[in-house]
This record gives sequence, C-alpha cells and structure tokens, in this order.
Amino acid sequence: MSTMDSNRVIIFDTTLRDGEQSPGASMNHDEKVRIAEVLEDMGVDVIEAGFPIASNGDFEAVRAVAGTVRNSIVCGLARATKGDIERCAEAIRPAARGRIHTFISTSPLHMKYKLQMEPEKVLQAVIDSVSFARRFTDDVEWSAEDGSRTEHDFLCRCVEAAIASGARTINIPDTVGYAVPDEFAALIRMLFDRVPNIDEAIISVHCHNDLGLAVANSLAAVGAGARQVECTVNGLGERAGNAAMEEIVMALRTRHDRMPYTTGIHTENITRASKLVSTVTGFVVQPNKAIVGANAFAHESGIHQDGVLKNAQTYEIMTPESVGLHRSTLVLGKHSGRAAFRAKLKELGYDLGDNAIEEAFRRFKDLADKKKDVFDEDIVAMVDDEVVRTNDRVRFVSLAVMCGTRHRPPTAELDLEVDGVLKSVTATGDGPVDATFHAIRDLFHHDARLQLYQVHAVTEGTDAQAEVTVRLEEDGKTVNGQGADTDTLVASARAYVNALNKLLVKREKSAPEALSA
Ligand code: KIV
Ligand code: ZN
Repeated sequence: MSTMDSNRVIIFDTTLRDGEQSPGASMNHDEKVRIAEVLEDMGVDVIEAGFPIASNGDFEAVRAVAGTVRNSIVCGLARATKGDIERCAEAIRPAARGRIHTFISTSPLHMKYKLQMEPEKVLQAVIDSVSFARRFTDDVEWSAEDGSRTEHDFLCRCVEAAIASGARTINIPDTVGYAVPDEFAALIRMLFDRVPNIDEAIISVHCHNDLGLAVANSLAAVGAGARQVECTVNGLGERAGNAAMEEIVMALRTRHDRMPYTTGIHTENITRASKLVSTVTGFVVQPNKAIVGANAFAHESGIHQDGVLKNAQTYEIMTPESVGLHRSTLVLGKHSGRAAFRAKLKELGYDLGDNAIEEAFRRFKDLADKKKDVFDEDIVAMVDDEVVRTNDRVRFVSLAVMCGTRHRPPTAELDLEVDGVLKSVTATGDGPVDATFHAIRDLFHHDARLQLYQVHAVTEGTDAQAEVTVRLEEDGKTVNGQGADTDTLVASARAYVNALNKLLVKREKSAPEALSA
C-alpha cells in the first residue's frame, strides 16, 4: 500500500475477532485460517485474527493465521495489561507484519462502572500499555473503547498520549452503535483540529450497527479524515454487528464521484468471502442484504426486467460481476476428468492437497451421477463440505430413512464409523430429521443441545444440493457443523456429525477464560 496516497482507505477486517463475538458464530481453528486466506486474497490490509488472551484456541488461531498470511498485516487484540499484550505479542510473532491492538474504555460510563478507574489512571494505562506494546512491534494500534460517548477534552488527551507513546493507528469506536453520521464526522474533525500530534497516526473508526448506521457513520468519518475502517464480512459482530465490509468497499467504489477514496480490495472476491463466512458461522445472509443478499441483483418486476434487458444501468448501479457474482455456469459433467476438475477448483480459488482433491473428485462423480447440471455453486458447497472433514473421529457412512404418511413413526437406519469401528443403529423420531439425529445420538452418546438446524438450497431446482447447518451447544461452547448433499437428510446427518466432531475437538482443548471486548 502506498503511504503517499492520502485518499487510500485501509481496510481492517475483524470478522475473526469482533465477528466471532456474535453469539453462536464460533469458528474453529482451520476455519479461521481458511477465512484469513480468503481475506488475504481479497486484498484486506489488516486481518484482526482474534483475542489471544481469551482462550488457548484464540491464541492458537491467531498464531496460525500469523504463520499463514504473508501479504496482510495480522493483528491481535489485547486489553491494557501486560499479560494481554505479552500473549498477543507471542501470538503474532510468526507474522510477516504483525500488529498489537490494545484498548481501554474512555467514556465516563465505562470508566466509572466497568473499569472502576479514575480518568487519570485510565490515561496512565493508555501510556503504559502503548509503550509496553511498542517493545514488541512498531505497529501498535490503540482504541478508545466507547470513544463516541467520551468527553472531548479527555479523548483528545488520551489520543495525544497514545500517539506520543508510539501508537501508529488511533481507533475511535462507536462501541454501542449510538452515533449518527454528522455527529461522528464532527468527532473525527474535532480530533484533527485539537490533537497536536494527530498527523503522526492514521485515524481509524470501528462502528457498530445498533441503529443500522455503522456503514453511514464509517463513511462519514472517512469524509472527515479517517483513513482506516474496521469492518466485517456480512456485517457480523457483537449484537447488531459491525460495519459490513462489502458495503463500505462497494459504496466507495460506486460513488467515487462523491467519495474520492480507494481501497485495495479486489471486489470480485466479495461473494466468495460472504458465502464462506455464512457457511462457517451458520449466519444466513438476509436475501435483501445490500451487495451479498440473494436478491441484491435480482430484478423481479416486469418493468425493471424490461429496463435491465434494454440497458442494465437502468436499474443496476453496479454489475453482479464486480462483486464476483456470475450467472450460474454449467461447469462439468459426469464425463469430465481429473484435469478439468483440478482446473475448476483452481478457478474457484481452492488450493487443495492431492488427497483432498482425490476425495472431492470422487464426490463430484457421485454428484454428477445424481444431478443433471453441476454448477460452480455445487462444486463450492461440495468442496467446502469435504474440506471440513479432516481428522474426524466420527464419520458418516450411510443412511436410509422411511417417512411420510404411511410409515409411523419415521425411522432412520444409520451407519457411522466411530474411531475406525463401523456401527449401525435404527432409530425413530417425530420426523425424518429427528429420527436421523436420534440415530446419531444412539451411536455416539452426548448431551449437546441442538441450537440451530437450517437448510439452504445451493441452486435452483428439485435436484439442488441442500446445504445444512447444525449448531450444537455443550457447557456454553457452541459449534457449527455443515453438510451438503442432494439428499437433505444425508446433508443433515453430515452436518450433525461435522458439528459433533468440532465439539470433540473443543472438549479436548481447554478454554480457561472467555472474554469479549
Ligand atoms: O467495539 C469496540 O469498541 C471494540 C474495541 C475493542 C475496538 O470492539
Ligand atoms: Zn467492536
């Protein structure tokens, strides 16, 4: 990134940190690394990979991302304590370029009730934490939590002290999503007017979406001089979420006439990133969501369709291709060979090892036997489904279900491989899905609670693959499992088994403390 370009906006993605704080949106280690790779390919400048002190899992994930990503800066979050900062520094150590992001609350409300600290003590903590973080890296970001509700005089003092202590990026969060655009822009302008050393740092913003204003506030702040925006794919994040990256980036690109700022994002990767994050977290994107919703480029009314056919610009302000949305293309048929399959995987952005390609190819052949037309979306769903199944203790083998009005009760006959041993059972339930899940429980006893069961059709038509998400919860830990198949019940069983395997991995790893920022 050229530091000379004063209109270049740094995109700081916090899907793996703030995004993961959405209740239920847990991601495992491998999923975080996969998402980080996609973010890197997209041209994200800074990837906030987690909160290393929060748990061993978070620490390991940040370290793995730091060891994998080469082009983006990898950042870890730390409170204003030595323990947090040391743990964060350790986690980002393998990074080509690593950042420590340390924060403390500065609003009267947070200082009094949450921190129970006097303002002067908070100011000292800012100085101490930033100076300490600088011992490990030159790239330190400091955030004023609840910055938008902080008294201006105090915010100016904290920002000036953080910069003087060595922070290169100063982040002003609208932590509770309370600000409105003109007010938030004025806050950023106030800092530029009043903080004497402000030119020595990049000003960043981090807006939450409680009033649906996160993107508007972020863009207003950019207009006022902010040059880093913190955001997440699909707007994932605490409560109502963070500013959606795809909306920020596409607004800047589409309305360059009004907002003459650029980003380094390859926007054609947006759809892929959105789908991956949605699949991994089980958070469905609402159909009318800007940029990445299923209907974002669909024209239903006759008048609109007629206009678009005559000239797409009549109703389209950006092309579907610009966000990586291509008309479903028939990709391969059952006569396609390995070479064509490999080439297609590469085109879709997969870089799999030989064994994984072989397994995916086998499933592709099965799919092509069952489904007349195989589209890009089918390949993506199938490979995403396959990749999540490495080192599983429990493996799906086969399923037969009897249901309908003549069979009472619905019955599932299931074969699973558990720790390498084939096991079979027949179970009944209130419906075919219930019977299938009972059968899994019978073969592998566990007390996890089913929190979410969701089915989504990958393409159109009755022969479409079903993509199923299952969320399980045990002792406060949640996991999301995914499964894809042309048979919805097989996809359901695969998703449940996938969630179960993730739970088993989670059980093994100790998580001493759960924190949120
Ligand atoms: O919302 C917030 O204030 C945060 C900070 C830790 C940046 O997430
Ligand atoms: Zn936040």
